[in-house]
Amino acid sequence: MKTILSGIQPSGKITLGNYLGAIKNFVQLQNQADEDTNILVFIADLHAITVYQEPKHLRDSIKQLAAIYLACGLKREKTTLFIQSEVREHAEIGYLLQTMTYIGELERMTQYKDKMQKQTTGVSSALLTYPVLMAGDILLYNSDYVPVGEDQKQHLELSRNLAERFNSRYSDTFKVPEPLIQKVGARIMSLQDPTKKMSKSDPLEKASIFLLDEENVIRKKIASAVTDSDGLIKYDVQNKPGISNLMTIMSCISGLSLEGIEKVYNGLGYGVFKKDLADMLVEHLKPIQERYNEILNSKELDEILTEGAQKASYLASKTLSKMKRKMGIGRK
Ligand code: AMP
Ligand code: TRP
Repeated sequence: MKTILSGIQPSGKITLGNYLGAIKNFVQLQNQADEDTNILVFIADLHAITVYQEPKHLRDSIKQLAAIYLACGLKREKTTLFIQSEVREHAEIGYLLQTMTYIGELERMTQYKDKMQKQTTGVSSALLTYPVLMAGDILLYNSDYVPVGEDQKQHLELSRNLAERFNSRYSDTFKVPEPLIQKVGARIMSLQDPTKKMSKSDPLEKASIFLLDEENVIRKKIASAVTDSDGLIKYDVQNKPGISNLMTIMSCISGLSLEGIEKVYNGLGYGVFKKDLADMLVEHLKPIQERYNEILNSKELDEILTEGAQKASYLASKTLSKMKRKMGIGRK
């Protein structure tokens, strides 16, 4: 039995980066998986609250993310879809693993250092320990593979170290999880500053395309995406980060290779390219948005989440009992 697991934080509007770097990959893995593969995808609400979230807004975002997962093609028969906080074991394993994580390991995390720089006061201790909670998410289900975007690689490394540390300190318990990072699309960049990652938390609206953006908004954002002045459609991240990012997006959406795109647009300008890219995006996102609207307020969505939490809790509680026994806490 193989287990594939991943999650996304419901901490803002889902971006095209989340979709191309993560969700699209989950759906592909699900569709290729055989009977012997267990797939778990969750809504990482405990992670979201490492920075303050307005409660009503958070609750809406949780449901929206669940509907987005389904609208993008996750299927209840194949994937266990659940909300992290509805499976108590996540918080519990997070604490157990903290006892074997070094502060230095956490302080070295790039994402933590970045966030610390942006938010100088009122940084919660959970922002530091967040990668341990993430390791817990992964180890609870003895996951083999974790599909994520490039930015999560370092966190995955910690999960691997903690699995090995537990195995050697107590006895063989966990598989050492492997990240699954795509070749193209693992790091979609901001449309306004293509040296920065496209991020949910970017205050500049037009830096990101959101999965639920309306057609005219998508067209405007692509048209105003930053490129360079030489007008050549050529993939060169170092010297031409803007157009290279747009080419990556086109490649992910259309299935064309980067070289293929260079050939098709040889001699044509950025205007033509951007118009085609906007058309492709609108066409790709339209059915997703339609399904999203059907699912969001359906009874089925609630049923799926309830069923998912039950299945996940069953698996998680088994792992947690085993860990506690091995660590010598409690009575047996
Ligand atoms: P987050 O928005 O931090 O909850 O990220 C959820 C998932 O989306 C993770 O697997 C990230 O690695 C992935 N992701 C986030 N932003 C991007 C991006 N700009 N490009 C590619 N993947 C991304
Ligand atoms: N930390 C991840 C992010 O911000 C989300 C996440 C939480 C996750 N737990 C996980 C991803 C476990 C994969 C596996 O993107």
